[in-house]
Amino acid sequence: MKIAIIGGTGREGAGLGIRWALAGHDIIIGSRDPERAKAKAAELRERTGKIPIVGETNREAAELGGIIVLAVPWTGLVETLPALRPACRGKIVVSTVVPLTFGGPRLFTPPPAGSAAEEAQVLLGDEARVIAAFHHLAAHELAEPDSEIDCDLLFCGDDAESKLAVVELGASLGLRSIDAGPLSNAGAIEGITALLATINRRYKRKNAGIKITGM
Ligand SMILES: NC(=O)c1ccc[n+]([C@@H]2O[C@H](COP(=O)([O-])OP(=O)(O)OC[C@H]3O[C@@H](n4cnc5c(N)ncnc54)[C@H](OP(=O)(O)O)[C@@H]3O)[C@@H](O)[C@H]2O)c1
Repeated sequence: MKIAIIGGTGREGAGLGIRWALAGHDIIIGSRDPERAKAKAAELRERTGKIPIVGETNREAAELGGIIVLAVPWTGLVETLPALRPACRGKIVVSTVVPLTFGGPRLFTPPPAGSAAEEAQVLLGDEARVIAAFHHLAAHELAEPDSEIDCDLLFCGDDAESKLAVVELGASLGLRSIDAGPLSNAGAIEGITALLATINRRYKRKNAGIKITGM
């Protein structure tokens, strides 16, 4: 697959990019700054030994990608997505975005749309096929591709074909995928990240994850 990672210069996007490149996918790192994107792409090529990793502006990345992965902070969605709307038309858009606010009374702070993924759907319009996924994979784990990630991939969305693509992306990371229903469940999935972060803090861990039993 040809995967554009919007905000791919960051920790989560770069970690996903490393793992997917090693699994044989083509990666386009997106950034607000093309030079930063190209520098990160060069760094990831060096790390993985994989050639098909390039860096572009977020808009060019979205135009080039077959699948578009959103990996910017949720506060950046409003300024980032309107310009990507034409490029995302008809494409699968995977939101990894978790609306967290650090230092306030409430860590999980979903927007009025209900979740970051639903906000992305509003900003991109109905023709973008938005799926919420990959929220429970910590960036530092993704960045160590020799170690197995011990959790399930929970995802949700309203488009069956897009869900199949996400299952394939999950399999590329060695994950079992669990279809958690429509996009209206995205808030519940995103909220689990806040729980995992809290559990990690409380137990002085880094790798709390989630698995569904009884399947
Ligand atoms: N870190 C994790 O372990 C983790 C785990 C699960 C999910 N997530 C989710 O993944 C997303 C990315 O997380 P991260 O830790 O990689 O974040 P990050 O490093 O803070 O940001 C990722 C990239 O987004 C771009 N960016 C920053 N602020 C922006 C803004 N206001 N508008 C547009 N672009 C902006 C930056 O790229 P440029 O400056 O190059 O444009 C940055 O490199 C978040 O939504 C987070 O909730 C993260």
